[in-house]
Amino acid sequence: MQKKKKFDKDRTVLMFQMIYQLQKHSKYILVIATNLHYKNKPMATTKTSSTKPATAKKTSTSKTAAPKSSKKQTPSAAKIEDSEFHEFFVDELKDIYWAEKHLVKALPKLKKAATNPELAEAFTKHTEETNAHIATLEQVFALLDEKAQAKKCDAMEGLLKEASSIIEDTEKGTQIRDAGLILAAQKVEHYEIATYGTLVVFARNMNREDIAELLQLTLDNEKATDVALTEVAEGLVNEAAAAE
Ligand SMILES: [Fe+2]
Ligand SMILES: [Fe+2]
Repeated sequence: MQKKKKFDKDRTVLMFQMIYQLQKHSKYILVIATNLHYKNKPMATTKTSSTKPATAKKTSTSKTAAPKSSKKQTPSAAKIEDSEFHEFFVDELKDIYWAEKHLVKALPKLKKAATNPELAEAFTKHTEETNAHIATLEQVFALLDEKAQAKKCDAMEGLLKEASSIIEDTEKGTQIRDAGLILAAQKVEHYEIATYGTLVVFARNMNREDIAELLQLTLDNEKATDVALTEVAEGLVNEAAAAE
């Protein structure tokens, strides 16, 4: 019972930490919270279904044996939930792995479409960094004894489609296109920041400081990229003001 209570408390702390991370990136609260809600449902079902039949079986055999059997159930239930959380974590890693692998293909296209040299340079730099993010995720998969697999990330697919639309709808050599490219790229960075921010919290919750530290490095780099893009945007605004 004590272990179960501790686990519930851990989950509550985790939820608060997640809310804190998500509040920093409010735009994605609904997407990620819906995802979590969906993923958490089977967890709750498994917990209930695995406990109920086991208790019923043991109770029907002997009434006095019931407290002993419930003692035995608690650690195994916690074990199941730990493994389910591991599975959930790996699933989310697969999602961001897909996102990074597709982003690294899209960034050179954004660079080609950009006019401002600083913006083009930022895209080149982040292409290299994104390759490093992919390598880091592969390292994390290895640390978890899991195969590095990509699972389609609908959010990144949508964000990259939006970037393509901006290129199609604007003329080359215009500040409007550069402004649109910055907007699209920052949306991508914010999505990555929200994802890695939450994954770092998850890793710490799993007592995997080694993994948390690796993911934190990527998170810091995504944040730095976001700041760099803001600086390019400010430069564009100043350029436009000077031309008036
Ligand atoms: Fe990344
Ligand atoms: Fe990024």
